[in-house]
Amino acid sequence: MLIKRWDPSAPKPSEITPKALWLDRRRFLAMSAGTVAAGALLGPSQAWARNLPAYREGAVTLDEDLTDRDSITSYNNFYEFGPDKSDPKRHAAGLVTDPWTVTIEGECARPGVVDVDALMARHDLEERIYRLRCVEAWSMVIPWVGMELGPVLKAFEPTANAKWVEFTTLFDPEQMPGQRRDVLPWPYVEALRMDEAMHPLTMLAVGLYGEVLPPQNGAPLRLVVPWKYGFKSIKSIVKIRFTEEMPRTTWNIQAPSEYGIFANVNPRVSHPRWSQRRERRIGEFQRRETLMFNGYEEQVAGLYAGMDLAKWY
Ligand code: MTE
Repeated sequence: MLIKRWDPSAPKPSEITPKALWLDRRRFLAMSAGTVAAGALLGPSQAWARNLPAYREGAVTLDEDLTDRDSITSYNNFYEFGPDKSDPKRHAAGLVTDPWTVTIEGECARPGVVDVDALMARHDLEERIYRLRCVEAWSMVIPWVGMELGPVLKAFEPTANAKWVEFTTLFDPEQMPGQRRDVLPWPYVEALRMDEAMHPLTMLAVGLYGEVLPPQNGAPLRLVVPWKYGFKSIKSIVKIRFTEEMPRTTWNIQAPSEYGIFANVNPRVSHPRWSQRRERRIGEFQRRETLMFNGYEEQVAGLYAGMDLAKWY
């Protein structure tokens, strides 16, 4: 079987062209396309100014072909930048992600504000190759770079009352044109039960394909929960809140019969408007069978022992 691995030692696109030059070229292209306010592109706050720190090859990998980088970064769901798959790449380029802070609130002994660069410096970064299965029945295989969420959360010392963790995306209609329309209740909110958040597969991603996350993929910090439908993997996080009660989450508020709070990938439970039995791997023609828990059943089924997964979809 072909094992297609991303080679982190290979030159990055940013190394082939000196960084100052490609930053300049990006500014020029964006300005000439007239897509972003010029102010957002100048100075050190430019979207891709941050470098990805060194990372190690992670323990979790897959012997499946990686989805090509171009598809991963141009076929996106990020409603803050529009509802079409091509909108995020077109409209997110100027998102200012440096500096970026995350506010920690709720049931924990050490609430506060943490800088993303400090977070990356404090925690082990590694590359992990995960399947991503969207509720819309397509999937990709993505080489993420990031950190395990569990140790990040532990550092804030959640109390015994912390049963859930809620995540919130930036709310900034000036930068995020999709938020000027009521297509979803803004800001985007997602949540995990505490044991799901602490599971070793759950990641906070800061990069993909060996480079810092592009804005359309949720820069500078996004959740990746590989056994759940993609909408749980919330992008561009600015707040983490520990709660005792189950939080209200965006898609669940929008259409509770379609988007459950758990949203575990489950081929046996259909979406009310389509089956979840098969999926289209982006870049492939033949549909694949969808795997229980997106193929991570052995690792995560224990979290849901005794639960009726048709009720708690
Ligand atoms: N996060 C925010 N803030 N806004 C969104 O619209 N879309 C979700 C999720 N995270 C979304 C989001 C959905 S439906 C999916 S499938 C994944 O992001 C897609 O991630 P990708 O574009 O990096 O593949």
